[in-house]
Amino acid sequence: MYDYTKINPKECEFVPVASVDEIVEGDRLYIEVDELAIVLFNVAGRLFAIADLCSHDDGPLGDGELDGDKIICPRHGARFEISSGKALSLPAIVDIPAYPTRVVDNRVEVGFPIGD
Ligand code: FES
Repeated sequence: MYDYTKINPKECEFVPVASVDEIVEGDRLYIEVDELAIVLFNVAGRLFAIADLCSHDDGPLGDGELDGDKIICPRHGARFEISSGKALSLPAIVDIPAYPTRVVDNRVEVGFPIGD
């Protein structure tokens, strides 16, 4: 299984997903790339992208409440670190994909591992 907590941005293909104006501080944006549902967050000016799918029971993770850089699944309360996708509490035991982000020419780009 691919370890999404160790995605190397240098081994990613970056895809433009939004303009920086669409995701200002405190915002979250739901996007889809190649049928992958992803949520983009701007937390204190830093951009994070995670899968919009809880690893516990496929809950809509992106609808969860943020606690700093952690997200709390709205279904059963599992917590994940949005920078790494690491599962921090039960009932989730499997990490979720957390993708690298960057800004190029006012566009937000999300990186996907090449060949994944
Ligand atoms: S579906 Fe997310 S904690 Fe159960």
